Amino acid sequence: MKIDLIVGARPNYMKAAPLYREFRKYPDKFQCRLVHTGQHYDERMSDIFFRELELPEPDVYLGVGSGRHGEQTGKIMIEYEKAILKDRPDLILVAGDVNSTVACSLVAVKLHIKVGHIEGGLRSRDWTMPEEINRIVTDNISDYLFTTSRDADENLRKEGIPAEKIHFVGNTMIDSLQYYLPKVNRRTIHSQLGVKPGNYILITLHRPSNVDQDEVFRGLFDILEQIQEKIPVVFPMHPRTRKMLTEFGMSRYLKLPNLIITEPLGYHDFMKLQKDAKLVLTDSGGIQEETTVLGVPCLTLRKNTERPITVQEGTNELVGPYPDKILKRTLTILGGEKIDGRIPEYWDGRAAERIVTILMRESHRQQGRKDPTP
Ligand code: UD1
Repeated sequence: MKIDLIVGARPNYMKAAPLYREFRKYPDKFQCRLVHTGQHYDERMSDIFFRELELPEPDVYLGVGSGRHGEQTGKIMIEYEKAILKDRPDLILVAGDVNSTVACSLVAVKLHIKVGHIEGGLRSRDWTMPEEINRIVTDNISDYLFTTSRDADENLRKEGIPAEKIHFVGNTMIDSLQYYLPKVNRRTIHSQLGVKPGNYILITLHRPSNVDQDEVFRGLFDILEQIQEKIPVVFPMHPRTRKMLTEFGMSRYLKLPNLIITEPLGYHDFMKLQKDAKLVLTDSGGIQEETTVLGVPCLTLRKNTERPITVQEGTNELVGPYPDKILKRTLTILGGEKIDGRIPEYWDGRAAERIVTILMRESHRQQGRKDPTP
């Protein structure tokens, strides 16, 4: 089976890496081509992840770069179509909800090439999020929907997706977390930043809904100003967020004494900071899941989440972009309130293995041969 494994933006790499490793175990069965769209392209948003997740140089690099949504999605489609026409795979695998995910899926489905969506079925029900549109479109044109939780299966069934396309396999991003934990534990990022394990808050912020609107963005930084008076706050800053700080004339926040702003960090350092944080504040999707597995309290600065299992079973809580609520909950947690959680079903480091087993079965079924798996 010839497979194109697509990556494009930062959250894709950790979801794809375990699959790449798994395919390599069966060279006689799978030929896996790594395709990077170039949606993210910096050393800090891309290259460092390839090294730390032990991914090789991509076989195909589309080099599309940044742009408006239509422009970026369109460029990826044009370039990926050329690549696929030159060397046609049997299946493409896309992950998550970024523009690269939907763009490559659209190209493949129109050429009658099968599509597998890793992390299918998640829904925030918020159509103002570009990711929600990407998720819904990708799911509807995929042949295999590999889900991370049972609520995702339910979402897909309710939307009329046939049950035989849906495969609950667990979370490949958590495969990466489990696999790299020993390396993560050896990192010394705390001493480099001058913070102590268990005595700092980690924050990330990059969603358009939080950083593209002056009033919301300013409200969040006002809160951070108050919080950093009580405990050090580490803030690895996304390029989009840094750009908006300058655009809104908010550069004074870069100089707050206890707010430690860094460039975007690599995977191992960032995981180490997450693992040892007293509390994580974020608007990311993946971080809600990672904190749940690490047992670290997480306040999500969004009104909704496509990952409700992290709230129901994990350590996540939605506080919206509302300054009063964020401050109140932060202070309560700093005051010692515990948030108990458990690790969701199948978030056990073996999701990629399950996906590959399913594909192996499928390939044998299509060839009319006997199922090779136990
Ligand atoms: C994208 C994803 C989002 C994901 C996030 C993780 C979509 C619709 N959004 O958002 O779901 O959570 O990635 O980071 O796909 N930039 C750089 N260097 C880079 C890449 C981007 O400096 O390597 C800057 C550019 O100024 C660019 C901006 O960041 O305009 C935003 O990048 P873009 O890929 O458009 O979206 P993200 O906000 O990163």
